[in-house]
Amino acid sequence: MSYVYGMYRPLKFCEVIGQEVVVKLLKKALSLEKLPRAMILYGPSGVGKTTLARLVAAWFVCENRTEDDVCGKCDMCKAIQNDSLVDVLEFDAASNTGVDDIREILNQSNYAPQYSSQKIFIIDEAHMLSRSAITAMLKTLEETADHVRFMLLTTEIDKIPSPIRSRCFCLALQSVNPKSMSEHLAALDGVKISEDAMDLLVQLSNGSMREVLSLTQQAAMLDSNVNLSVIHEILSFADEVFVAKMAGFLLSGQFVEIFEEITNFTKSKNISLLSFLTQLIQFFQAEIQKAESAKKGPLLRILIDLNKLSVAATKISFFSAMITIGLAEIAYNNRISN
Ligand SMILES: Nc1ncnc2c1ncn2[C@@H]1O[C@H](COP(=O)(O)OP(=O)(O)OP(=O)(O)O)[C@@H](O)[C@H]1O
Ligand SMILES: [Mg+2]
Ligand SMILES: [Zn+2]
Repeated sequence: MSYVYGMYRPLKFCEVIGQEVVVKLLKKALSLEKLPRAMILYGPSGVGKTTLARLVAAWFVCENRTEDDVCGKCDMCKAIQNDSLVDVLEFDAASNTGVDDIREILNQSNYAPQYSSQKIFIIDEAHMLSRSAITAMLKTLEETADHVRFMLLTTEIDKIPSPIRSRCFCLALQSVNPKSMSEHLAALDGVKISEDAMDLLVQLSNGSMREVLSLTQQAAMLDSNVNLSVIHEILSFADEVFVAKMAGFLLSGQFVEIFEEITNFTKSKNISLLSFLTQLIQFFQAEIQKAESAKKGPLLRILIDLNKLSVAATKISFFSAMITIGLAEIAYNNRISN
């Protein structure tokens, strides 16, 4: 089983995670039949913009809709999920930026919808539209009949020209908060995720639900009991013992040893230096947390002992030198691949 994009796409509003305010506003507007003619849903990648735009479209056609939600199962809901309902037109502005492309799409707004009461245009990557395409759209926005709804989606709201923004109802989606993510992962069928693995997954995905699900799915393919080492494996991370050993070298100032070992290790395992450093930083973060909760521990003692501050400073500058090497490595690799 390979990761299929959108495999876990929420089929109902109640399945959307971490966007409570936006979901509430959308459902309110829909149930009062006051959905604005033009809306912008903006926010980071992988947090539910396309998902929500499709759910809004489903609201108008779902065969078993309740006061509160769509069913997610009927033929109409399915047609929208498969992007095969003629009344819902998804359009990617990143690959169709020209005015002719958008005119062709906008022409469709002249025809009445077939199954829905609404013709819904979902315009993805809306910040990529050309100036002339935007002008054409503005005109349509002003002239559209009441059977047309525009939903513009973007990760870069600042790049949407203000004349467009001011004519749209703008809703901000948030990065999904760690707690909601972990609760969702904990409730997934057929996968058991250890607490530390969960923390790492959530940290790595940086608020993107798509990212956390994709990583989880990859990990679960290796082992349905997902623990830290499974995640390290999919990310080509070094093993924990090695990281702890290097952290020990760093703290005791064994710079020559650490440099040799890390260089050999990253080369032999084909791990990038930066990925290793990320792990080392995570190790220290975890140590600080542990030390703080136990009110002791080697790292915390170093940090609070003023006499040792100068030593710590040396170590930090060594560490930043390592980061510089990591960045140089990335720059060098990019130069080769370009
Ligand atoms: N809020 C969410 N709740 C549950 N799953 C989500 C959520 N957001 C994203 N996902 C998951 O991530 C996948 C991609 O989400 P979606 O396409 O809605 O993101 P997006 O915000 O449109 O991202 P992009 O800006 O990259 O287009 C969904 O199929 C779903 O599996
Ligand atoms: Mg999207
Ligand atoms: Zn339905």
